[in-house]
Amino acid sequence: MLQLNTNGAEFIKRHIGPSAQDTEKMLAAIGIKSVDELIEKTIPTIIRSKKPMQIPEGLSEFEMLQSLKKIGDKNIVATNFIGQGYYGTITPSVILRNIFENPGWYTQYTPYQAEIAQGRLESLLNFQTMVCDLTGLPIANASLLDEATAAAEAMAMIFNHVNKTDSVTQPKFFVDSAIFPQTKGVLVTRAAPIHIQIEEGSYQSTKIDNTYFGAILQYPNNTGSIEDYTAFIDQVHQAGGLVILVADIMSLTLLKSPGELNADVAVGNTQRFGVPMGFGGPHAAYFATKDEFKRGMPGRLIGVSIDAQGGRALRMALQTREQHIKREKATSNICTAQALLANMAVMYTVYHGPVGLKKIAQKIHGLAQNLEARLTSLGITQANKFYFDTLHLTGFDIAALQKEALAADINFRYFNDGKNDNTIAITIDETISENEIAKVVALFEKITGKKASGKVASTTSIPASLVRTSSYLEHPVFNTHHSETQMMRYIKQLENKDLSLNTSMISLGSCTMKLNAATEMIPVSWPAFSSMHPFAPSSQTLGYQEMATELSAYLCESTGFTACSLQPNSGAQGEYAGLLTIRAYHEHHKQAHRNIVLIPISAHGTNPASAVMAGFKVIVVACDAAGDIDVNDLKEKANLHKDNLGGLMITYPSTHGVFEETIIDICDSIHALGGLVYMDGANMNAQVGLTSPGAIGADVCHLNLHKTFAIPHGGGGPGMGPICVNDKLAPFLPGHIYNKSKIGAVSAAPMGSASILLISYAYIKMLGATGLQLATAYAILNANYMKSRLEKKYTILYAGKNGTCAHEFIIDLRPFKATAGIEAEDVAKRLIDYGFHAPTMSFPVAGTIMIEPTESEDKPELDRFCDALISIHDEIMAIEKGLSDKLDNPLKNAPHTQKVICADEWKHAYTRQEAAFPLYYVQQNKFWPTVARVNNTHGDRNLVCTCEPVASYA
Ligand SMILES: Cc1ncc(COP(=O)(O)O)c(C=O)c1O
Repeated sequence: MLQLNTNGAEFIKRHIGPSAQDTEKMLAAIGIKSVDELIEKTIPTIIRSKKPMQIPEGLSEFEMLQSLKKIGDKNIVATNFIGQGYYGTITPSVILRNIFENPGWYTQYTPYQAEIAQGRLESLLNFQTMVCDLTGLPIANASLLDEATAAAEAMAMIFNHVNKTDSVTQPKFFVDSAIFPQTKGVLVTRAAPIHIQIEEGSYQSTKIDNTYFGAILQYPNNTGSIEDYTAFIDQVHQAGGLVILVADIMSLTLLKSPGELNADVAVGNTQRFGVPMGFGGPHAAYFATKDEFKRGMPGRLIGVSIDAQGGRALRMALQTREQHIKREKATSNICTAQALLANMAVMYTVYHGPVGLKKIAQKIHGLAQNLEARLTSLGITQANKFYFDTLHLTGFDIAALQKEALAADINFRYFNDGKNDNTIAITIDETISENEIAKVVALFEKITGKKASGKVASTTSIPASLVRTSSYLEHPVFNTHHSETQMMRYIKQLENKDLSLNTSMISLGSCTMKLNAATEMIPVSWPAFSSMHPFAPSSQTLGYQEMATELSAYLCESTGFTACSLQPNSGAQGEYAGLLTIRAYHEHHKQAHRNIVLIPISAHGTNPASAVMAGFKVIVVACDAAGDIDVNDLKEKANLHKDNLGGLMITYPSTHGVFEETIIDICDSIHALGGLVYMDGANMNAQVGLTSPGAIGADVCHLNLHKTFAIPHGGGGPGMGPICVNDKLAPFLPGHIYNKSKIGAVSAAPMGSASILLISYAYIKMLGATGLQLATAYAILNANYMKSRLEKKYTILYAGKNGTCAHEFIIDLRPFKATAGIEAEDVAKRLIDYGFHAPTMSFPVAGTIMIEPTESEDKPELDRFCDALISIHDEIMAIEKGLSDKLDNPLKNAPHTQKVICADEWKHAYTRQEAAFPLYYVQQNKFWPTVARVNNTHGDRNLVCTCEPVASYA
């Protein structure tokens, strides 16, 4: 029985919104007797789960924290000198408390509704400005997933730029042997399906000709050496190729920028700007390039525009680049990125300012020089002529050192790559002080039996030709907020501009904006998890391993599959990884020609984009009038391509919010022709515990942990997109440099953004089997309750055969265009005046909104939202009847800012009260948009993606 059991786990009632009494009222409104009956009518019997989930019953919040603490105690937080792209960093407490641990920031959605997202848009614009300044390149995006995938995105971008026509004339890509191995690993994975030929070598000895489209180098490189690439960059350019530099962001405060070196693209990680290592993530990677490549850039770009009042307003620029529009022609599948972490990194820069940042970099450099002097006095060889933070050491008993260091919980980087064997690297970061340096020296003294002396060099170890002389971060935003009071207020000022889950429900269809409970979030900040280096010895990471093993088992149980990879850093990365497993399976069975994948027209844009990246050709399948996959069209196309059929990608329940009855038949027909089925798990919130991808006949799926499993969206990331697979595909899961596999790595770190896996782990632990099932049932109940209220006023597109929807439903707004001149955008913006974020706009059907309330919203909130939409309907009717002007009405002028409402002049035919306080509840909790409706085309025509000069604000 699907009932809110008053004796059940404490957290169930905290996570699920409606009370038992309200449940009765909601069922009565739908006209159904019980939640069980609703589920029976909604999910086809044939795919209903037959057995209870093998997941323990829920722990209380207190119990869960205690048990996770014990698991954390199994991790050893060592002093890390490993470097390799991950560094100890000091997160300023004001940022930790006011952003990282603040639902006002972490529960935000991607800033599609720009009018209620000006705070994070401003911060992300600061991020882009910071990246542009430090890299010396004019345009940067608002983050990518990690350094390695950012490098792969850059590779794909320049490949497409250079090889503009279908015939690829420059297929080769030079990879300098001295880039981080995890980056190389991802490049190799990403290159193969799109037929890029990776040529690895030394930049000093390789001759680049016109068969190369580009090259990638690391600055400073894998062993820490600072190399001058100027001549090589010229050589690549002369051959018609382009150059990517992977640059350490901290070092760029002291080193000549990639732009000054004439690199075409710079990528890297901003982790060491105040974002904990977290055993691999989440962190924001950056991507900057020259102006001429801006239209091919991956990810989201924030730009400056104007609003309806002519004031400055920010929004996401060049939205036509989104996969929604480009689909299989998109060259990147990046959707969710790392917005929250980008905001943290830039706030670190805002707080420290250019002078503070440089001081941190100089301290790091100085300590490295200090250590070099003392170690070389012991007779140890330091191989880097020039370096920033990393010493490359040889000439001593490495095994002896390793033994002593491990015993002292000190980690160095021990090479075992065939090129640098018998050497180690020591990397200094911001957290290292003289004390730690002294401990390192003592270790070396012990193994050499000598006493260190050594005088620190008086000059820097940066070559004169590469010393940075150009200025950076001169904008006032980086030179103002340096006291904690100023910083706290700046963060708060931005937070106040944004509508988050701590204001009202965000009913985004397909995005599952559910509760991100505080108890789920707390462990992410614990040093036992946050301070772990992803390449720490496995003997130190037992806690992470235990959590990951347990979580993988729960995810397999939820999907009906048998194996799991936690590596992909977003849903789209999961799609890519999952499709690679299918590709590898066919290759393994000598069926490499199976390169066709069928994708319904209703699919999310990332599906075709990921398919192309994984080397598939996309054939689009039609949907019928009821919104279901057109089974005849599907079978016809599957048959037509049967010899080359790789598989099918489907979303279930469909993006139309319906559990299609034909799903088993669909999967069977693909299998019968030798194809495999990929299920996009974005809608798993309608499945967990009641049915599963395994039950519908799929072979692999990804899970958006940032939807179904409670990781917050962070204003556009982080996210996690693990994949689960059946036995057939288990041998083909992603590997890593430290764990070789058939398809290689898809992320820089073996467990992706490992630290936020804790959130999903905690969510599952506290809900337990009963709670997980109830959460799904209530997600469906809440959606059907809203549907029952709204269908009296609006046309609902699509429903299952018994008239119920899944966990979301689509409202058709298209008819109002003809009757009242009202478009979906007008309704979305008017909802802001009512204190709500708009539902998903125009996906999967243009001119509609898709509402997904989730289980976490209670009946009063659902009612407020329905009241708002019903009141908006009345406003539309007034226009239809001629009672309200077609152009001058509350919808067309929405949203109304405080400035507009309080202005001395009010020229409209409706009142200020009607504009700003249209319903009684709004008076209790008014949320003011800080800008009026944003003009998108103006911004795209006049693209400005960095903070404008101060004069322009005047
Ligand atoms: C149906 C569907 N598939 C895939 C994705 C991509 O997921 P992500 O944004 O995590 O990359 C989304 C994102 O909203 C989605 O709604």
